[in-house]
Formats: sequence, structure tokens, C-alpha cells
Amino acid sequence: MPQKIIIDTDPGQDDAVAILLALASPELEVLGITCVAGNVPLARTSRNARVVCELAGRVDVPVYAGCDGPMRRSLVTAEHVHGKTGLDGADLPDPTMPLQPTHAVEFLIDTLRAEPAGTVTLVPIGPLTNIASAFERAPDIISRVQRIVLMGGAYFEVGNITPAAEFNIYVDPEAAEIVFRSGVPLVVVPLDVTHKVLTTPARIDAFRALGTPVGDAVAGWTDFFERFDMAKYGSDGAPLHDPCTIAWLLRPALFAGREINVEIETEGRFTTGMTVADWWGVSGRAANALFLGNVDADGFYALLTERLARL
Ligand code: RIB
Ligand code: CA
Repeated sequence: MPQKIIIDTDPGQDDAVAILLALASPELEVLGITCVAGNVPLARTSRNARVVCELAGRVDVPVYAGCDGPMRRSLVTAEHVHGKTGLDGADLPDPTMPLQPTHAVEFLIDTLRAEPAGTVTLVPIGPLTNIASAFERAPDIISRVQRIVLMGGAYFEVGNITPAAEFNIYVDPEAAEIVFRSGVPLVVVPLDVTHKVLTTPARIDAFRALGTPVGDAVAGWTDFFERFDMAKYGSDGAPLHDPCTIAWLLRPALFAGREINVEIETEGRFTTGMTVADWWGVSGRAANALFLGNVDADGFYALLTERLARL
């Protein structure tokens, strides 16, 4: 039986690659894609998710628009990284498939109530506003969630949007606090992992060598996406953040981590949005997350490229 998942996303080139990896993998059944404001505003993320579904030939996947801003704060976006459209780097046509009329938060609630308890995994790869809003509006669904596998946070890599905070958590720290304190089993894919899966020229060439519209789009996106991180870190490519969540679901042995306590700073003068990860177990606070710390980068790219070749 395929693993049922809902991808909650703010595409974003790396989100787009994560969606493609999921749609290329028969081990997973994508019940729906819920969009949130993050990298770019909601109108663009909800457009971009449909662009990606059409690129994958999967107009059957329902796409929902969700929250257009954080629960308690004003929206922070990242056009400086992703470009104005959020999918700069590949020139793809406007989508023809419609958005679903239901709000993403309602879809999350309805689906978790309808599916057998403990059978649906949530895969948030943007700010956690939709997930936290669903939990606040319908607390009964929390215990029905099988697991949350999220991209967000950092410990050794510290911050990417501020010196202390990673973008997805920083945009909506109150939402992150609700998710991290929910009691739902969490798998956290932080910058500590994603900064180890860089889009090197050889890896981008392998995407382009696929010779397909998908391969060309992914090569174009990663070419564009990497310029910011390479200038900032002087690295040999950009971290391909979001597909790591899907790769963990497909092949967890590619990753390593620890069950630790992770709290979210929501009031720090300089540290708001920080994931306070107790990697060394000094706090005495109960573990609430499998916090990943390492990845087999070559294995990750081999899996990703092989799966993209199927689309
Ligand atoms: O910090 C990286 C995360 O922020 C990724 O999910 C990227 O898509 C952006 O949303
Ligand atoms: Ca994202």
C-alpha cells in the first residue's frame, strides 16, 4: 500500500523538485498539495504548484490555496533567492488546471477526519501556517496524523534568513511552536542536512542529461536557485532543501539523526524563529523530534535523478 501524504508547500524551485520527486515515486500517494505564502505570495505559490503538477503530467492531483500570511505576523518572502515568480530559471506555461474551491486548511481537516487514523503523513516544506491553523481549528485531527516530515530549522548551520533562524520557521514561529508542541511524531530536516546536498555542476548536468522537459526544468531551476547561495556561502552549489523530506520517506537509511527536544523561540530579540535543538541532551526536556544531522549526498542525488527520469 502506498504511503499517503499531503505536501504543504511554498514553491519555490526546491519545493518544485520535492513535488516532482513525490509524483515520480509509486511508494507515495499524494492526496493533495496545499499551498502557503512563503518564498513568494500565495497567489504565486498556488499557481506554481499547478505548473509543477502539469509539468509532471499529473493534473489529477488536487491543489489547494491556504493561508496568505503568518498567524500573528506580517509575511516575509524570499524573492531575492527564488526570483519574482518563485520558479525563475525555467520558462513554463501558465497552468490550465484549476485550484480546488476548498481552502487548504479545510482540506487538511476534512482529509484527516476521513482517512483512517494514523495513515496520513504531512510533509510541510514551507512556513507551517496551514498545518498550525488546521490544528488550532480542529484539535481532534492532531492525534490522527501519522507523522510530520518537515523541512525547517537548523542547529549547527544556525540561520539563513537571520543569524539565528531558518526561513520556514522564521516566517511563522507561532505556527512552528504549535506544530513542535503538538505531540505528533516529527521528522525534522534542518539546514544541517540540506547544506550537505549541494547542486554541484555535475549534479545539474545529470538533470540536463535526462533530455526531458522535467530534466530541463530542474536544471534551469537549480542553475537559477544556486546563484544566491554560492555568492553568500562561496559554496560549490546551492542546498536542495525540500526534496530531502521526500527522500527520507523513500529511503530513510540515506539519513542519520537523533531523537531530541526541539523548542521554537518566539520572543527572542535576536533569535526569534530559532529551533533550539537540544542535540547534546542538556535541557532535560522530553524528545519531540527525530532531528536529522547527516545525509549520503551522492545517494540522495542518485535517487532523485533516477526518479525524475521516470517523469
Ligand atoms: O530555508 C529553506 C526553506 O525556505 C526551503 O523550504 C525553501 O523553499 C524556503 O521555503
Ligand atoms: Ca519551501
